[in-house]
Order: sequence, then structure tokens, then C-alpha cells
Amino acid sequence: MSLKEDLTRFGQAHLLRFESQLTADQRERFRQQLAQIDFPQLQRLLANQDETVDWSALARSAVPPPAVRLDRQHPDFNSQQAVETGRQALADGRVGLILVAGGQGTRLGFDQPKGLFPIGPISQRTLFQMHCDRLLALSRRYQVSIPLFVMTSPATDAATRAYFEENDRCGLAEEDLIIFCQGSMPAVDAATGRILMATTSSLALSPDGHGGLVAALERHGCLEQAKQRGIDLFTYAQVDNPLAELCNAELIGYHLLSRSQLTTHVVKKRFAKEKVGNVVSVDGKVQIIEYSDLPDTVAEQRDAAGELKLWAGNIAVHVFDRTFLESVVASADGLPFHRASKVVPFIDEVGKLVEPQTANAIKFERFVFDLLPLAERAFVVEGDASQVFAPVKNANGAAVDTPNTAQTALLNLHRDWLTAAGAHVPDSLRVEIHPHWALDADDTKRQLAELDIAFEADTFLR
Ligand code: UD1
Repeated sequence: MSLKEDLTRFGQAHLLRFESQLTADQRERFRQQLAQIDFPQLQRLLANQDETVDWSALARSAVPPPAVRLDRQHPDFNSQQAVETGRQALADGRVGLILVAGGQGTRLGFDQPKGLFPIGPISQRTLFQMHCDRLLALSRRYQVSIPLFVMTSPATDAATRAYFEENDRCGLAEEDLIIFCQGSMPAVDAATGRILMATTSSLALSPDGHGGLVAALERHGCLEQAKQRGIDLFTYAQVDNPLAELCNAELIGYHLLSRSQLTTHVVKKRFAKEKVGNVVSVDGKVQIIEYSDLPDTVAEQRDAAGELKLWAGNIAVHVFDRTFLESVVASADGLPFHRASKVVPFIDEVGKLVEPQTANAIKFERFVFDLLPLAERAFVVEGDASQVFAPVKNANGAAVDTPNTAQTALLNLHRDWLTAAGAHVPDSLRVEIHPHWALDADDTKRQLAELDIAFEADTFLR
């Protein structure tokens, strides 16, 4: 069957409208884009347009997930055991780190990949550099190399690769930095279901969501590579959280002790409609209901103590068993797509660029946390938000989750470590700590036992 007939069958023949005007090169690249589209899948998605999950109903039957709370009371495991178990797994070289960095960061208003954002309050280190510094300090602590798998998207891939190349891989050894690119999905016209074109020779494509991770890990041989290196645990974080405690030993320990396949770090939500996913339990299965899908009345529910009933906020820090990811590779195709109404510029039938002011298109994305209900055993551990969560989402000026709020959180955390170790840091001064100097409060105490530091100006301890 010719391409034209094929596209006609799927109602997408308009895509060939400008083909005769293209150069051989453009045509070749355009055909490559077309070849990557799974048209039958898209047709199914469009046909089931109204068959979305009834989140309201689901949310109403949701209860808080079984979790180890901050008081660390648990009938089966204690925190010390978890820390020791996690440390051993790290020292044994069983742990790798996945950082997802494929998002376009539209809300932040930064025109480069978010990982390149200079977030260090004094050092101006980028998000990527901060994560790598922590990883290198952990490698030193555990005397082991911890590979970093960075997932990019077509929107961030080239710039991310160039950044790491120009910056000496942020100090990582060549074999410890694996950059791989997730897939794309076409944006379709909301009214007609037709794929939108970005130019006369290209489709309007966008990343397929961080749920594209599983397929991308497999496609790029990362699961196999990890297996060869003896890695059977992946810790996972988003590039946008400079406070993320990468490879947290306690979290890894709880994961192993509970024989969990997918463990999630959560924080207590600050307010009912906070823009975080809600980690809940429905029919005995842990799952996440995204903030946008949680009805206000459900979000506002309180328990007998007056606390939010659905208290557990997703900070997108997980631990995965490698074998669990391998087992879902086949069913990753079964991960649902979430649809989002978005503003997507496109070219009209005469090739003129149209820039809509309101949502005109549907984008399809998979979410990595939809793997949760697939796990036979999942586990949830609460962290203290002031120590583990300060995402950079919005431009400065917004009320929450900005570079300013993240920098303040970092400085406050480091000040707390120093104060707990007996140092005096005047309120007017800022102190940022490099992970090589101290990874946590205990390291800070050890450093200060040997050093006598008088803080007289803003200081970057490194
Ligand atoms: C996300 C979570 C939310 C969580 C919050 C914590 C989703 C749908 N929701 O919300 O439950 O509470 O983070 O900060 O994820 N990314 C990719 N590829 C993609 C899309 C995103 O790699 O195709 C990466 C981004 O680079 C980013 C992360 O995933 O690091 C999150 O994406 P974002 O759109 O910022 O999610 P939020 O709505 O903030």
C-alpha cells in the first residue's frame, strides 16, 4: 500500500499536502518522522476519546497509602535497619540513577533544557551540575561508581549532550554517563483529530511523557547495560528538584526490606490543592492521582485529627527493581495515555503559521507512576519536605516552586546542618555547601569538629 493510501485510511492524508514542494532532503526527513508514528495506536486513542478514566469516582474510593511516616514507626522495619541495608546495596554497586530531563520547562520560561538552569544560590551551579556533584560525593563515600542515566527528549537532547561535552561530563567518568532520548507523540487538532504540522516539512511533535522511560530504556539497551554492570536497583528523580536526595540509603533500604518492586518517596502536602500528584491506595493498590484529576471536595477531606486525608504528595523520587522494569517492558504499551489540552502553533492548509491564543490541540503523554498499580509490592516512605523537595517549576514572581524558593530551601537546609553542628551563621549571610564538603548533617558535624570557621561573608563551602 502506498503511503498516501495508508494515511488516507487513518484520516491523515493532509500530511502529504506540501510534499511536492519539498527538497529531497526535507522529504527524506519528513518521511522518517512519519515512519515513527504508530498510526493504528493514534487511531485507537482518538476513537476512545471519551473513554477516559473516571478520576472522580476513583478519587472518592481512595484512602491514604500504607506508609512509613516521619515518626518512622513501623511494625516490621526500623529506620536504622533500612539505612544499613541501603548503604550496603550502594557499596555493593547495585544502584544506578535515572534522571528524567525531557520536559520543555515551559512554565519556567527558560529557553534551554531545565538541567542547564543555574540554581546554586552562591555557586550558580546548574541543576545538572548539582545532581552530578551529589552523585560523585556518594561514589566517593561508598567507594563505588554509580552510573547516571539521563533521559532527554528530542526537545532537549542535543543541547543536553552539548552541555555535558563542554563541561567535562560534570566530572563523571565516560562510562558512568548514559544519555538516552525518549520518544515523541504527535499533537492533534482537538476538533478534527488531524495531526498538526509545525512546518510544511515537519510534524508538531512533543515528548511522550516520562512514562516513555520504560520503552526508551529498553530501546537504547540501558536495561541490558545495567544488568551487565550488576545493577539491579534504579533510583529515579526529576532534574527539576535540586533538593532531591539522590540514592537515599534509607529509601533503598526500605525498598529492599519490604521486597518492594517500586518504592515512592512522598511528603506531607502543604495544602489541599498543592500541585503534586496524590499517592493513594485504591482497592489495595498504591497509585497516584494527579493534582489536576483530584476533585476539590476529595482534596479537602480531613481525617479525625483534622489533617488532610489524602496527605501524601508525590515528589517523583522512586526506587525501581530492574527486573520489575524488564517485566513491564512488554506491558509498557499498556500504560495509559493521558491527554492534555494545549496551545500548539501549526501551519494551516496554505502553509501559513497560526499561533492560537487558546488550547487548540491534544497532546498525549504517559506517566511513569502509572507503573505503580502494576507492581505486586509497592512501598511508600515519607520524607521531610524541607530536606528533600524544592522543585523549580515557575519563573520568579510566582507564589511557589520558583528558582528563588528552591534557593531559599537549599540555603535553609545548609544553615540547619551548620547550626545543628554548633556553628553560628549570622542571619544576614548565606552559606551554600558543596556535597564534597558535606553530604548531610552528620558530615557537616565531622567537618566542623576539625575546622574553626567564622562566617563573615556569603560562603560556598567546598
Ligand atoms: C510532576 C508530577 C507530579 C509531582 C511533581 C513533583 C507528572 C505528570 N506529575 O508534576 O505528580 O508531584 O512533578 O515535582 O509528572 N519529563 C520528561 N519527559 C516528558 C515530560 C516530563 O522527562 O515527556 C520530566 C521533566 O523534565 C520534569 C519531570 O518529568 O523533570 C516532571 O514534569 P513536569 O511537567 O514538570 O511535571 P509537573 O506537572 O510539575
